[in-house]
Amino acid sequence: MEILKTVSEMQAWSDNIHQKQNQICLVPTMGYFHEGHLSLMEKGKEFCPDLVVSLFVNPTQFGENEDLDSYPANIERDVKLAEKKGVSVVFMPDKKEIYPDGFQTYVELTKLPGHLCGLSRPVHFRGVATVVTKLFNIVKPDVAIFGSKDFQQLQIIRRMVKDLNYNIKIVGCPIVREDDGLAMSSRNAYLSPEQRQIALCLSKSLEKAEDMILNGEKITSTVKKELASYIKSFSFTEIDYISICDPETLDEIGDGDINTADPLLIAMAVYVGRTRLIDNRIINPVQ
Ligand code: PAF
Repeated sequence: MEILKTVSEMQAWSDNIHQKQNQICLVPTMGYFHEGHLSLMEKGKEFCPDLVVSLFVNPTQFGENEDLDSYPANIERDVKLAEKKGVSVVFMPDKKEIYPDGFQTYVELTKLPGHLCGLSRPVHFRGVATVVTKLFNIVKPDVAIFGSKDFQQLQIIRRMVKDLNYNIKIVGCPIVREDDGLAMSSRNAYLSPEQRQIALCLSKSLEKAEDMILNGEKITSTVKKELASYIKSFSFTEIDYISICDPETLDEIGDGDINTADPLLIAMAVYVGRTRLIDNRIINPVQ
């Protein structure tokens, strides 16, 4: 496995692979790998033997008061895990390599970021879209793999790829959960043992919402109220948002507007202590 740190080395490696008529798969990450990241690498290997994992904590997707400085890291462990998964290259640029002095070009979508996480993280998706665009131009993948815990991010990238005519297949992978249902996240490392238990309220409330809707509840505000009161019953929690929306447009589904023929997305962000956790579930009311 190679570790490449500069844009020119990475581009030269990719050009060489393409010259041999082989395809490249990219798994973009910010490191501190857990089973979720490893499942993306496994999926990537199913597409192409030439698998690149990027490991870059992207400063432009963090707001001023967010956790950029404390974002968990263990590069040595990550490199070993990537090697075990048969990764060909870990691309690990430093900040200046991606954002050289004078950098001023950003990629921004007009509608999708105006929902869910974008409401309380106003610069986040501009940072994500920008860095993913740059990674696409640097790694030149034919396939790119993303997790669906960040469902809004996945939809934003799919839209961006269409809008900018990238010839890249975007593959979304299912959320990987701990045995008790907690969605895996690098940020779970911030939770105390007590908060770790409380954090289960996210996945449990998604189950509750699914039950309510599959049992015929059509009033989305009733479902949201029920979930909110369940989550608030736990100490240390503060709800950022609970959304029941169209998985494509992310537009909220109004009371009584659930169309039983279409899938819908239930998504939430909840602070447990100072840790902001997200989770979601796609359900199809017709079973
Ligand atoms: O999902 C992440 O880890 C990041 O948002 C990504 C896609 C690697 C961009 O920095």
